[in-house]
Amino acid sequence: MEFSIKNGGPDKAKYDCVAVGVFDSRKLSEPAQKLDKASGGHLTGILRRGDMAGKGGSTLLLHGTPGIAAERVLLVGLGKEAEFGEKAYRDAVAATARALKDAGSRDVLITLSELAVAGRNAAWRVRQGNLAIHDAFFRSDQLKSKKDGSKPALDAFAFSVAGKDVRSATVALAQGEAIAQGMNLARELGNLPANFCTPTYLAQQAQKLAKTFKLKCQVLDRAQMETLGMGSLLSVARGSHQPPRFIVLQYHGGKAKAKPIVLVGKGITFDTGGISLKPGAEMDEMKYDMCGAASVLGAFHALATMKLPLNVVGLIPTTENMPGGAATRPGDIVTSMSGQTIEILNTDAEGRLILCDALTYAERFEPDCVVDVATLTGACVIALGAAASGLMANHDGLAAELLEAGQVSGDRAWQLPLWEDYQEMLKSNFADIPNISGSRAAGTITAACFLARFTKKYRWAHLDIAGTAWRSGKEKGSTGRPVPLLTHFLLKRAGKL
Ligand code: BES
Ligand code: MN
Ligand code: ZN
Repeated sequence: MEFSIKNGGPDKAKYDCVAVGVFDSRKLSEPAQKLDKASGGHLTGILRRGDMAGKGGSTLLLHGTPGIAAERVLLVGLGKEAEFGEKAYRDAVAATARALKDAGSRDVLITLSELAVAGRNAAWRVRQGNLAIHDAFFRSDQLKSKKDGSKPALDAFAFSVAGKDVRSATVALAQGEAIAQGMNLARELGNLPANFCTPTYLAQQAQKLAKTFKLKCQVLDRAQMETLGMGSLLSVARGSHQPPRFIVLQYHGGKAKAKPIVLVGKGITFDTGGISLKPGAEMDEMKYDMCGAASVLGAFHALATMKLPLNVVGLIPTTENMPGGAATRPGDIVTSMSGQTIEILNTDAEGRLILCDALTYAERFEPDCVVDVATLTGACVIALGAAASGLMANHDGLAAELLEAGQVSGDRAWQLPLWEDYQEMLKSNFADIPNISGSRAAGTITAACFLARFTKKYRWAHLDIAGTAWRSGKEKGSTGRPVPLLTHFLLKRAGKL
């Protein structure tokens, strides 16, 4: 796929197709008015006859419009003009991509990028437009025996912007492209089932990334983790035949002494629940339990592609969570790398058990801040659904930065509190801390409270992506979230937004 920025009238552009917006109640957007004029009122004629009312998401493909250089014109419904905003913009670009995917055009000029979106500039429109198109075109057929050979004919996309915006839009396009590639990597990894995507495979992917971008990459094995005292992480790995791994990625783009941002991703390549076995229904979806890890790798891909002037460390604890003769039992007590002992009351609350040792390991980097990303709790799906990731933090400034990054990227997060009241729910009679609270109440928060016991030495935020990392049902698949949020956070930190 090829993307470009274009400045100039849509009527004279020689593309296979030009896409222009129409607001609800048949009002032509400005670029559409230009085409209409050049075609001697052809478009208004069509609207008058009732073929296109401008409803959001609707499209109408026209051939041989008089007076227009392009072979086709795609009318794209934008919904009500007064309500036209971020979501309507993204939806319109996505509808354009879907309508043209298999419609014969090889290239398209998209004029939607000229439309005003409140509070957002042309750079934003181009970045988001690029992501929307990649999202609409993504498919996973790596493991189909017959590849769906028909590559979409549509392969080149030009966004039109005003002359004064060409520069910033060109930079934004490259950023969007880097983010999209990072998302695609995260999506491929997320969709890959657990018989392919093992901890060893994830480590190989990290090493491949390191080789491509000249990053530092260390992969620790079980013996090395034992030496470090990662008893909590290793307790999760006991039931599996797959050896666990601990991946350390380091990107040095900033000043030698600049403190790094540490990203930690949960890498459970399959979560059966362990001895606290999960019910069978939809258990296949637990192959996505490594999407935190995948998003860290995706963010690294984007970060390294853009060569951001930052120092960033990626930590990925990765293992399967399986039942077995050697598996950890409910009631077992283990010692974490921090020295705190943990009573494992439910082996299905394993994410926090692998994250806590990674969070302790993070201390050695004297981080500026640490952000962990995890498909941690079913409760988060109940609370926020697929619209937002759950955000919890021990530092309000860091939380605000991440919320803003989510807002700008359209990959939103919503903050939940980490009050002392919730900490009191985590009490064990036999160890320093239990891995679950005695009740199901506030499950997303009590999980974060557990992590908070291991993050006292630095600024820390936690993203629960259980509801956002993949879609269930007919459109089942990994979404690539929260790569956009993480990358926007890094872009802003690097002063590039
Ligand atoms: N990976 C799951 C969380 C999850 C569940 C994500 C469903 C998406 C959909 C996690 O390891 C888990 O099993 N959490 C338990 C915690 C409970 C035992 C306190 C849960 O949410 O049920
Ligand atoms: Mn679990
Ligand atoms: Zn899990």
